[in-house]
Amino acid sequence: MTDSVKIESILHEDRIFLPQKNFDERISGAYINSTEAYDEMYARSVKDPDGFWGDVADELDWFERWDTVSSGTFQDSKWFEGGKTNICHNCIDRHINMGHGDTTAIIWEGEPCGSDGPEVQKISYYDLHARVCKFANALKSQGVKKGDVVTIYMGMVPELAIATLACARIGAPHSVIFGGFSSQAIADRVNDANSSVVITCDGSWRRGKIVPLKNNVDAATELTDVIKTVIVLKRCENEITWLEGRDFWWHDVCESQEEDCQCEQMDAEDMLFLLYTSGSTGKPKGIIHTTGGYMVYTYLTSKWVFNLKPDCDQIYWCTADIGWITGHSYIIYGVMQNRVPTVMYEGAPNFPESDRFWDIVERHKVTQFYTAPTAIRAFMKWGDEFPAKHDLSSLVLLGTVGEPINPEAWMWYREVIGSNNCPIVDTWWQTETGGHMLTPIPGATSTTPGSCTTPFFGVDAAVVNEDGSEVETNAGGLLVVRKPWPGILRGIYGDRERFIETYFGRVEGMYLAGDSARRDENGNFWIMGRIDDVINVSGHRLGTMEVESSLVSHESIVEAAVVGVPHEIKGTGIAAFCTLARGFEASEELKKTLIAHVANEIGAIAKPDVLKFTDALPKTRSGKIMRRLLRDVAAGTDSKQDVTTLEDFTVLAKLRAED
Ligand code: WT7
Repeated sequence: MTDSVKIESILHEDRIFLPQKNFDERISGAYINSTEAYDEMYARSVKDPDGFWGDVADELDWFERWDTVSSGTFQDSKWFEGGKTNICHNCIDRHINMGHGDTTAIIWEGEPCGSDGPEVQKISYYDLHARVCKFANALKSQGVKKGDVVTIYMGMVPELAIATLACARIGAPHSVIFGGFSSQAIADRVNDANSSVVITCDGSWRRGKIVPLKNNVDAATELTDVIKTVIVLKRCENEITWLEGRDFWWHDVCESQEEDCQCEQMDAEDMLFLLYTSGSTGKPKGIIHTTGGYMVYTYLTSKWVFNLKPDCDQIYWCTADIGWITGHSYIIYGVMQNRVPTVMYEGAPNFPESDRFWDIVERHKVTQFYTAPTAIRAFMKWGDEFPAKHDLSSLVLLGTVGEPINPEAWMWYREVIGSNNCPIVDTWWQTETGGHMLTPIPGATSTTPGSCTTPFFGVDAAVVNEDGSEVETNAGGLLVVRKPWPGILRGIYGDRERFIETYFGRVEGMYLAGDSARRDENGNFWIMGRIDDVINVSGHRLGTMEVESSLVSHESIVEAAVVGVPHEIKGTGIAAFCTLARGFEASEELKKTLIAHVANEIGAIAKPDVLKFTDALPKTRSGKIMRRLLRDVAAGTDSKQDVTTLEDFTVLAKLRAED
């Protein structure tokens, strides 16, 4: 199934931006302000990881200190064994205990804009503590115990952060499902995790419209009998159906609860959360993160990559949804441990107008801003007049994540949003890594547009051949990590074999990221693309097999092949080639039906951008679909691939002729 590693043409880019001299004063002092300091600290972090990470963990609160910093094998990595802590305590209670209860923890902004502007909530640590405790007690009163997986399917409302923190507080691992996913996706995840409690909203606001979240959960309950309790937050006041005994209003279950709830003392290796992500096979996998290592790793990466400093008038905003790992690590956990206010915005970047993000930056005086290349490309397309309407001078640092950023987008971000005065941190990492892995350190790292530069502390990353030997400078190869780090996933829920095989089965003794990369003469890493059947659509991971399975689940399709195709805004779009079943005719209408079918089965993000009907798919003589040829057809290119193994040349010719 997996094509050989495809090494794309090497982009030539030699613009280098030295660490910004004035960054130090603009940010009230950079934690790490020279290349020499980075080099020295990095050397220590890989030479003496236990000393390094032990010192970091000492900055946080533990109910009981750990016995060993790191232990176990790479495939069975353990951090802070013997230690007891709680990440919710470190995000909230620790700050209150130090006298910062009145400080703002969350700045939330709703999407709708009435005549007096959007609804804004500024939530202090005191308020947050009370709201989290009440909901934690409510969960307990619904029978949720330590170790029970709780599913959260909500819009970007404060209660989404409150629900995750409440779960962490009582030791119930959360499984957050992105609000854009379908009822089938909810049912699959709930089944896999055997999660009987689902927290949702009546609806959520997106571009002025209501996404019917509760309806989707209702539909999911038709597909699985695992769901026993549904807690519903009233947000949009849209009509919903109600099942007495199963459905409970959030405000009702919270009403009589105490505003105090003791934190569960969690073992460092107790599960903190599950987060489902796509892989090469059809079924999304539940990535397991545990308490201590994830806590320490997100704390330090947030602190040093974004230079988060409390009491320095910083306002941090990450535009991701909490349904993705970016939101878990860099809206909630990492940021809140650093006591810098985190902005949460409910809706779309172009509602009511295409300047909404810049309006938010200006009104809330955002200092650190973190978004995705796909969003940056959309802003470029919408035009410079939108950011130009706003005072963006509060910004001191810009971040990007999710997919490779093309140099034009990087330069636009730097010039138009950052006025050439903000370092850009292009952070490479994954759901599996818990936090940043390859990233510039602002104030210390020279950057080049398109490169995610160098490893974070303690990360021993390399580009290797199948046998584990390092490739030469600028040669493409497999991106691996050669030593465990605190944020590494601890497994795939319920599937130990798949865990070992996916991450440790190909290159002996190393963690395989699933990306191809090269390292240039300055030691900078360049991500080239995935090496598996995963495509990255607008920074969201999708398995081509997932989309294929949903297409063939429709009665009209017998076989489907899905490939990525370059897309101006999304980075990669989806092209689907489908063979019709007997009795069905190709038509525009059927195309639309199939696209809607995929949206219904997976979610709108999985909708094919191009769908073609074909009598047959190009296959090798052994019956394997030749996806690389389809990629060419979809992209309208001809990379002169070797077609000697192709079974039937007319198939390819026909597909090409139809363009
Ligand atoms: C895959 C992980 C990490 C949070 C969001 C995505 C790609 C991610 C970058 C970057 C180039 C990137 C990789 C990676 N990716 N960040 N800065 N430059 N590629 O998390 O859904 O787990 O996807 O996203 O291909 O493997 P995810």
